[in-house]
Amino acid sequence: MCGIFAYLNYLTPKSRQEVLDLLVTGLKRLEYRGYDSTGVAIDSPDNKNIVMVKRTGKVKVLEEAIQEHFSGGEYSKPVLTHVGIAHTRWATHGVPCERNSHPHRSDDGNGFVVVHNGIITNYNDVKTFLAKRGYEFESDTDTEVFAKLVHHLWKTHPTYSFRELVEQAILQVEGAFAIAVKSKYFPGECVASRRSSPLLVGIKTKTRLATDHIPILYGKDEKKLSPDQDADSGKPQVLPRSESTSEFMPLEEKEVEYFFASDASAVIEHTNRVIYLEDDDVAAVRDGTLSIHRLKKSLDDPHAREITTLKMEIQQIMKGNYDYFMQKEIFEQPDSVVNTMRGRVRFDGNAIVLGGIKDYIPEIKRCRRLMLIGCGTSYHSAVATRQLLEELTELPVMVELASDFLDRNTPIFRDDVCFFISQSGETADTLMALRYCKQRGALIVGITNTVGSSICRESHCGVHINAGPEIGVASTKAYTSQFISLVMFALVMSEDRLSLQQRRLEILQALSNLADQIRAVLQLDSKVQELAKDLYQHKSLLIMGRGYNFATCLEGALKVKELTYMHSEGIMAGELKHGPLALVDDSMPVLMIVLRDPVYVKCMNALQQVTSRKGCPIIICEEGDEETKAFSSRHLEIPRTVDCLQGILTVIPMQLLSYHIAVLRGCDVDCPRNLAKSVTVE
Ligand code: F6R
Repeated sequence: MCGIFAYLNYLTPKSRQEVLDLLVTGLKRLEYRGYDSTGVAIDSPDNKNIVMVKRTGKVKVLEEAIQEHFSGGEYSKPVLTHVGIAHTRWATHGVPCERNSHPHRSDDGNGFVVVHNGIITNYNDVKTFLAKRGYEFESDTDTEVFAKLVHHLWKTHPTYSFRELVEQAILQVEGAFAIAVKSKYFPGECVASRRSSPLLVGIKTKTRLATDHIPILYGKDEKKLSPDQDADSGKPQVLPRSESTSEFMPLEEKEVEYFFASDASAVIEHTNRVIYLEDDDVAAVRDGTLSIHRLKKSLDDPHAREITTLKMEIQQIMKGNYDYFMQKEIFEQPDSVVNTMRGRVRFDGNAIVLGGIKDYIPEIKRCRRLMLIGCGTSYHSAVATRQLLEELTELPVMVELASDFLDRNTPIFRDDVCFFISQSGETADTLMALRYCKQRGALIVGITNTVGSSICRESHCGVHINAGPEIGVASTKAYTSQFISLVMFALVMSEDRLSLQQRRLEILQALSNLADQIRAVLQLDSKVQELAKDLYQHKSLLIMGRGYNFATCLEGALKVKELTYMHSEGIMAGELKHGPLALVDDSMPVLMIVLRDPVYVKCMNALQQVTSRKGCPIIICEEGDEETKAFSSRHLEIPRTVDCLQGILTVIPMQLLSYHIAVLRGCDVDCPRNLAKSVTVE
């Protein structure tokens, strides 16, 4: 959902060309967040101006433009200090085109340039305010108002520092943002801030950092100006000046490089030392010194932001020998599920410890109900595990799509336990649902794949799914790891229930075999590819199942839709006769999941309803199930496991199928059209 990246070197010689290379590599790592258009801004060779390059399309196009116009000569001379900012866009306001691409500028002299992720919701008011003061707008974006607002403040408050100007500007804007700002009036400086969109600062030094935290500088409370009020009164705008009251010294290093990025994958090849910024932090670098400033201090605000050491490895964010990240991530699942269980499941003693929530288990056991809330694939992991959670916790379990949950103003009580499931930990709908539940006093449990993400930080407790970075826009390994995390939670909740011990043992046994069984399912790849060849020219694919496998139908259909642009529907087999059966004829592709679980007989009924309407379903069934196979046109056999984990084995053929259909249809697997990962806007 837009990626921002900025780089600043201080007393570390780098040519402009090197800076551009760094910016382009940073953007490539963030490309999964949006790929409608890209852009960079650096200083011109005479240091008097800011040069911007923007292109519609993916980073590759920008890279080619940069190579063509900005290499060699002056661009290869080293400079001691430089600031570059960069952006990859997922369009929200304004169609994807060069005019709407970031960076956006304050004026035709490029005084201030801005990259932004998020949506400034009051941009129309700010625009009106600025238009009355003579500003003309050149794009359809919300972002442009920010650059112009900073410029306006600079003109009216010439003594303000760069940091203060940005700080005053963020007081005037509403909505969500992560921004990085560069200015020709403040060379060698960069200011960045965030509110509800992720942003971190990477720090690279030659020697080991002498500190593991950056003190926060607090200023005086500021009054938010109403732009219109000021316009009407005609009075000169007076903004109270902030004053640092901190006794601490901010980070000061002799030779240092700073990176501002939407996520850690963009900085890991340079440094593993990062600071995750909090909402309304303003991070500024001046003379190589990083300071983090906040205008207001409340009682529980910390004195410092911690410098975290990333555990991520560079190989985790590379494609290796795979053609696409999605393909790599599908094939990583034997390992990623083990990583999810590592250190948590003791197969010998049949014990499970979830360190992130263990202190809260007594409270969770006393709750009124469990709410599982998420979007898209993460929501499907809740659907997949709901039945087991009901069985092992004996509590009412509600599963909710975050957006719908918010639309309904769903009643939430202090004794509710609300789980927020999110790969990125930044999805706006899920995050807002979290805040809604937190305000109402519920216990908040985060299930995320991204350490340091907003959901992770705003939860009372949680489980990291530890699937490793997921870069393909279509979620795969995060789903199976979310699934297992929720299964582990159910097992923890039933630890002391004698009547459930047999069932727990059966599940634990199945978990210990899971990685090998996933490997066996992945062996079906070439068979799935053959199936894809039969299907890829069709317009539609219906996927049917029920019970534990209904979630696979929803997830499979979502994968097919988002990757192949074919119509696909996940259909609850029990609902077939209530409508969807009308779609079935001899030309409609149907895939059915029919396993030997408690709903087998009912699935067979549905299967017969389909075949008697001349449907020729492809069936996913258990290995050696000749009776079921006999009803199919083609089939995929998967190993048998316990009913509640079958969904992990049935979803993998669906991931492979959508992948192969997408390749055959010539679709960009890692960057499906109109989509982006980490949806940080509503
Ligand atoms: C589909 C997909 C999306 C995400 C959804 C939630 O393949 O990836 O449906 O699952 O946008 O994202 P997270 O899990 O990051 O909250």
